[in-house]
Amino acid sequence: MKPLTKLLYFMCFNNFLEMCMCTSEHDQVLSITVSTQDHVDTMQNLTSHNGTVLWQPASPSYITTNSEVHLYVQSTSVELVTQLLQQHRIPFTVLVENTEELVEMQTRNNSSDPRSGGVYHERYHSLEDIYFWINQTSQEHSDMVKVILIGSSFEKRPLHVMKLSGRRGAVNRAMWMDCGIHAREWIAPAFCLWFVNYALRFYSHNSEITEMLNNMDIYILPVMNPDGYKYTWTTDRMWRKNRSVLKEGSECVGVDLNRNFDARWCTKGASNDPCDPTYCGQYPESEPEAQAVAKFLRSHKDTVKLYISIHSYSQMLLFPYSCSYDEAPNHNELLELTKEASTKIRRYYRNHYKYGPGAKTIYLAPGGSDDWAYNLGIKYSFTFELQDRGRYGFLLPPSFIPQACNEALLAVKITALHVIKNT
Ligand code: ARG
Ligand code: ZN
Repeated sequence: MKPLTKLLYFMCFNNFLEMCMCTSEHDQVLSITVSTQDHVDTMQNLTSHNGTVLWQPASPSYITTNSEVHLYVQSTSVELVTQLLQQHRIPFTVLVENTEELVEMQTRNNSSDPRSGGVYHERYHSLEDIYFWINQTSQEHSDMVKVILIGSSFEKRPLHVMKLSGRRGAVNRAMWMDCGIHAREWIAPAFCLWFVNYALRFYSHNSEITEMLNNMDIYILPVMNPDGYKYTWTTDRMWRKNRSVLKEGSECVGVDLNRNFDARWCTKGASNDPCDPTYCGQYPESEPEAQAVAKFLRSHKDTVKLYISIHSYSQMLLFPYSCSYDEAPNHNELLELTKEASTKIRRYYRNHYKYGPGAKTIYLAPGGSDDWAYNLGIKYSFTFELQDRGRYGFLLPPSFIPQACNEALLAVKITALHVIKNT
């Protein structure tokens, strides 16, 4: 061997050895750059493996030859997964080296824990805490808050909607906002709580929230998927769907509530496999959580002019359609509106949000609540994907809650004030 070749060989070999030392004591999140069909096939294979959970995109079927995949890998699978990626020469980096540490940060700050820092709305809360908070808040602010029971979850937990109104007579305009349709997106319920707290505190002090509450009722469902949310606190932090158990057939649990609405239900972009994270369910509104929301909106469709669904992560302001590439009739208006919100978020908070129709901006996703609400006649219908863009993903540390919520608050205000002006 010539010296140079030898040196190169040595370097490569060494490098190779080093790369293969990817054993880990911790669960990790990898960011994987997929560019060839072989990469796609390998990744789709790999993600059906037990020790991994897809963070981005939502389902293996969304992986294409041009995607950045975020993959949660259990410690016991880290070696296997990284070896496979290297074999297929698929480039990757480690996004999160120690997920347990982040989970600990997210759960430590809970009510009775003396170590908890920060104020209530700058922390994540367990389901029990949130139920307690809903009850307490409605009692303390009985002049502005009413609690409405709109149904119950598969495991029979109540679905409480908070109705916020200004101190004034009846109006016939309303907006709806739900949070936590997907269990693991913890920043979403945190935002619903943040929003209610902000509204109650700054009504008659901040002009925008005052105008909102004086001109519309605001219906808020803080946790649309309580069973799933509970499950992420007790058993599996990465769970997305609800917890419905099928009577016959599969052992797999759960339906993706954001694929269970009647908008080109279960076409391309959803799965009819109960084990898939985007499983559409047995029929539209088969799930009690989706049915309760749909029923409530159907019976309030003459007053509800604005629908907003809060998700994470990826920082996007989305509007219909997600179930097809069709352009919505008021596409240009919705595009301008989300563009304005995105521009203001960038100006005030120096953070970047994409905006556009769901199907073109992320992927085809039929059966979503926003498209369904839009087709019901709610012409201002949005899905907001909050922070971040993948640095922490679903494990966003509590210290990021204030900025994430202020960004979303700005977008909600801009859309609500536009709706008040134009309806
Ligand atoms: N990440 C969301 C999901 O997969 C996107 C929601 C966009 N809207 C929709 N109708 N699919 O559910
Ligand atoms: Zn989501």
